[in-house]
Amino acid sequence: MNVLVTGGAGYIGSHTCVELLNKGHGVVVIDNLVNSSAKAIERVEQITGKHVDFYENDVRDRAALDRIFEKHDIGAAIHFAGLKAVGESVQMPLEYYDNNLFSTVRLCEAMRDHGVKNIIFSSSATVYSGTNQMPLRETDVTGMCTNPYGWTKYMSEQILRDSAKAIEDWSVVLLRYFNPIGAHSSGLIGEDPRGIPNNLMPFISQVAIGRRDHLNIFGNDYDTPDGTCIRDYIHVTDLARGHVAAIDYMVEHRGESVFNLGTGIGYSVLDMVKAFERVNGIKIPYEFAPRRAGDLPKLYSNPDKSAELLGWKAEYDLDDMCRDTWAWQSKNPMGYGE
Ligand code: NAD
Ligand code: UD1
Repeated sequence: MNVLVTGGAGYIGSHTCVELLNKGHGVVVIDNLVNSSAKAIERVEQITGKHVDFYENDVRDRAALDRIFEKHDIGAAIHFAGLKAVGESVQMPLEYYDNNLFSTVRLCEAMRDHGVKNIIFSSSATVYSGTNQMPLRETDVTGMCTNPYGWTKYMSEQILRDSAKAIEDWSVVLLRYFNPIGAHSSGLIGEDPRGIPNNLMPFISQVAIGRRDHLNIFGNDYDTPDGTCIRDYIHVTDLARGHVAAIDYMVEHRGESVFNLGTGIGYSVLDMVKAFERVNGIKIPYEFAPRRAGDLPKLYSNPDKSAELLGWKAEYDLDDMCRDTWAWQSKNPMGYGE
């Protein structure tokens, strides 16, 4: 099947392109490169030995979408394109609502008008409300988001759910990611954040390469065994394979479905620092700093539904995630910028 991958030059999108191509799917990418590099597409081609049709366009550009759907026989879309920095979304809510919601609406309209009936959406654990017990199940309460980024995911889920009800024969799969880290085992593609990384693993690996002198650990007085926050980290290649499993699933199932993509295992910030040090033999200097606003002490998934219905389970462990993060960072100290 030919799959339209929006945001396919980005971190998760590029890894998903590799897994789709490895499974024999055709890949068409639309990405405006607002947070990525065209080099990622070249690297995907290098890893797989296969061609990617790449369009440097904005997903909100309806005319560009029309040209793509007219030129290629697309069977499904995976919608990764979006802005994702939580703090920035608080500073620039209108830009986030514009980019993340209108890209979803324009894409759905174009799919409807061109008879494309399958869409997978990049949602996030952030849509679950803070009142739930761990581990999080797909049936748990959503909403009460703490920032505009989270609301764009929540609202996009609703837009897609309503579309699945209204448009005949549509299939919508909402995938709620936990904390993707790591990189392709080749070290050729990986996460390349612009500016100071917001997320833990990119920060640790930039300390390891010498771009930052130490890690600040946000809070060591949480109600967890070592006082630091617990998250469900998942290897990006496992996450990417979850999308390939969802493509297979949606061919057989119409309407709306939602799945957690996580490992179900929680690790603390200190666990992550120690694992990175042990696996890669590099010391990560750190200091304890005040809590970061909006952080929950524990966040991890129950991934049983994905195992049962998608036949998908995370296979890589924490050591793999730490090793592959470092393989990418050490081979590309400045990311794609070199
Ligand atoms: P990323 O920034 O690396 O990738 C997003 C891609 O979308 C980038 O290449 C960017 O250039 C592109 N893009 C953004 N707006 C666009 C637009 N209007 N038109 C065309 N291209 C556009 O981020 P990622 O980590 O790969 O995340 C992919 C998706 O998964 C995002 O929707 C993100 O919100 C979601 N998600 C990510 C995480 C995570 O931890 N990385 C967790 C949960 C959900
Ligand atoms: C963050 C986002 C979340 C998003 C997810 C995707 C926030 C508040 N939440 O989640 O909406 O879906 O990324 O990846 O931004 N940490 C440090 N020092 C650092 C960086 C992080 O101690 O320099 C800690 C954090 O306090 C947290 C843990 O590491 O306890 C993980 O942080 P991060 O990687 O940002 O992920 P989340 O907070 O889970």
